[in-house]
Amino acid sequence: MRILGIETSCDETAAAVVENGRQVIAEAVYSQIPQHAFYGGVVPEVAARAHAAKLPVIVPQVLEEAGGNIDAVAVTYGPGLVGALVTGIAFAKGLAYALQRPLIGVDHIAGHIASLYLSHRSLRPPFVCLVASGGHTEIVQVLSHDTMQILGTTRDDAAGEAIDKVARRLGLPYPGGPHLEELAEHGHADAYDVPQSFRGQDHLDFSFSGPKTAVVHLLENIGDTEAVRADVAASFLESVVEVLTANTAKACRETGVHKVCLAGGVSANHQLRKAMQQMADREGLQLFLPDPKYCGDNGAMIASAAYFAPAGPTGRPLFLNADPGADLDEYRHQD
Ligand code: KG4
Ligand code: ZN
Repeated sequence: MRILGIETSCDETAAAVVENGRQVIAEAVYSQIPQHAFYGGVVPEVAARAHAAKLPVIVPQVLEEAGGNIDAVAVTYGPGLVGALVTGIAFAKGLAYALQRPLIGVDHIAGHIASLYLSHRSLRPPFVCLVASGGHTEIVQVLSHDTMQILGTTRDDAAGEAIDKVARRLGLPYPGGPHLEELAEHGHADAYDVPQSFRGQDHLDFSFSGPKTAVVHLLENIGDTEAVRADVAASFLESVVEVLTANTAKACRETGVHKVCLAGGVSANHQLRKAMQQMADREGLQLFLPDPKYCGDNGAMIASAAYFAPAGPTGRPLFLNADPGADLDEYRHQD
């Protein structure tokens, strides 16, 4: 079964054709970073317009590369920026109607989790997955392909969002994650004590707004000089990585699950990948990391998620709506 996946929830316009949820036949990702860089962050209206301009270019391209024949069209319906989502959904609806193929709505977080099915041919639930991106930070218990439960989530900023904001304060270009990682490599992680919210509490939630603000105040107090920038970046990144890893370990202990996964844009971070490996070794867990190519937003993960869990909001496909605050816990029940 070949599914075309379309992803437009944020600042990547992406499409891919995937066979049986695991094999990528054709794919294209158009990054809008140059359009948003000037503003230091994603401008929703600019994103929606860029999706509208690029979808008619990349979708025919991947369809042609895949030989034209597809069995279904899948599209992200949320969570994400409403205008960006609406653009992708409208395009997917039109295509599904024209080709007379079913339309499958996919939750973006379920998509990130499916990036692991593309990266590891034999991976099957149950497992625990830490999804850390620019918009989300969630520890998800994947009980089966279509039954997922959120065990912990951020109560304010997402990990990637906090990283991007600290990076911006340090004068780094957007998106800050990769730049902050590079800067941190030249600094000492023990130079500053960055607070970790909720550490040692009896829940698995995160909070990154406090640590981010602490770093901003720290820079105001010590002065934002070249000499301290790398140390601040290293200290902040280590603090974020530590709390992400500690809560994920705790989630695995509490659920008794032996497989642990990492997904989302922040999973490209080498320090986080290394810390997850050390944690998995310590806890006796089997770790699955996404292929670097599938860490960020892409169409293949959406096609894969649609194959493994087509019971998203498929009831009346042409009535599919964008749901900017879509909740993974309710994924199966929407129609
Ligand atoms: O999953 P994604 O592409 O988009 C959302 O769904 O949000 O994630 C983007 C986020 C951004 O915050 C970006 O800075 C972060 O992932 N990111 C990184 C790295 N590469 C991307 N954060 C830390 N280190 C990286 N190497
Ligand atoms: Zn994402």
